[in-house]
Amino acid sequence: MVYIEEFEIERQKEIAFSLREQTKGKKACVITFGCQQNENDSERIAGALEMCGYEITDDEKTADLIIINTCAIREHAEIRALSEAGQFKGRKEKDRSIKIGVCGCMAQQAHRRAQIYKSYPYVDFVFGTDMHHRVPEIIKEALSSKKRTSFITEKPHNEFGVISEGMPVRRESGYKAWVPVMYGCNNFCTYCVVPYARGHERSRRKEDVLAEVRSLVESGYKDITLLGQNVNSYAGGCTFAELITECAKFDGEYRVRFMTSHPKDASDELIDAIASNEKIAKQFHLPVQSGSSRILKLMNRKYDREKYLERAKAIKSKIPEISITTDIIIGFPTETEEDFADTVSLVKEVGFDMIYTFIYSPRVGTVAAEMEGQIEKSVSNKRFALLSDIENEIAQSLNEQFIGKTVRVLSDGFNKNRIPCGRSTQNRIVTFDKPVPAGTFVDVLIESAGAYMLCGKIV
Ligand code: SAH
Ligand code: SF4
Ligand code: F3S
Repeated sequence: MVYIEEFEIERQKEIAFSLREQTKGKKACVITFGCQQNENDSERIAGALEMCGYEITDDEKTADLIIINTCAIREHAEIRALSEAGQFKGRKEKDRSIKIGVCGCMAQQAHRRAQIYKSYPYVDFVFGTDMHHRVPEIIKEALSSKKRTSFITEKPHNEFGVISEGMPVRRESGYKAWVPVMYGCNNFCTYCVVPYARGHERSRRKEDVLAEVRSLVESGYKDITLLGQNVNSYAGGCTFAELITECAKFDGEYRVRFMTSHPKDASDELIDAIASNEKIAKQFHLPVQSGSSRILKLMNRKYDREKYLERAKAIKSKIPEISITTDIIIGFPTETEEDFADTVSLVKEVGFDMIYTFIYSPRVGTVAAEMEGQIEKSVSNKRFALLSDIENEIAQSLNEQFIGKTVRVLSDGFNKNRIPCGRSTQNRIVTFDKPVPAGTFVDVLIESAGAYMLCGKIV
């Protein structure tokens, strides 16, 4: 049974309410690493903690309960999460009443859990990626037990993973929201840890997704991102194209986006839906990973260079104003100069608005980690720098085409340098001259452009 039964959700809520005496005046902090899925999970964890009576704070130094929601996608992410956990050693020695928990994709992995048990004895509890609905029970255990507690599902991929509806969400933003439409992944790209960390692919019911989006729109949300590792395999009662079209039918001005579509099944139906619906944002994140068909095969991506180029062209020809962004892995095992040249030429041919480039990081348990021909870091670094330079030029020239045009921008308030800023439908960063409250739409006449920013005046 993938769905958590209603009585179990009710039981968790009762546990949460029963903790309120004990948690009175106490604060909890959730620290998040990783992708949007993880950010949304943290919002759900915070919602459950709030229901347990905690006040949620961003300040870990004053928190009585700290939960670190980890990511395992690359070694760098894991090291950051572990060093975050390490910071609490001293505090815990001074004050035994503080509780520290680790959850998320790293906690789900047996070898990392073993390391946490061994080297981080002050971590009080650990829970996996399919345990969010059980946070009240986990907190109850952690508060009453002197021993470390652990809530982990250890089942094979095809049996691991649940869907829970009806627990509260404490959203970080009042105008931008994440809405998961599916969880897990069945694709097993040979470099990737996600299927192991998140379990099998499962879709939320169409009615549940639509009800969540409707209530967000009604409460003033303006930018809603539908989340899934591969939204095109959505199977909650309709196709993904139908789902996003329905999500874009409520009254009022708002945008719906999605993350992520797999090139192997980025359908014409979805492209047509984006093209014909004003409320669907003109942004298509289509991770290519490599421009070499030989490497794509080794990655088990199930498309080749030609198929990707064909999809990218179909998108651009049907939606001329679209922004296409992508992910690229540099230094996958056996990647030659020729393979890398194929990636460079694909990047030039498509003309991406933005590339997220990652240096390949071997992940325990994946097929690629065992492959011969692992690439030297110095070689990967060189390729990484070269690709960045090339992309900067492409992004600059794409952005310059906006000079003199008026774009609709959803204000984010201010950027780090206290300059008014927001996002266009393509998700481009736009700065402007006068402050506008976050969550308001404005029209901006673009006067200058950088590679990753447009600047203009409100009209
Ligand atoms: N489901 C999405 C990707 C999610 S992970 C998709 O299939 O497109 C986000 C990105 O991290 C991937 O697109 C890939 O570029 C990168 N990535 C995943 N595993 C990696 C690894 N082992 N080393 C380096 N980058 C990795
Ligand atoms: Fe990882 Fe591939 Fe699944 Fe994306 S589709 S999450 S890269 S296994
Ligand atoms: Fe990281 Fe897990 Fe997301 S590994 S990228 S937090 S699905």
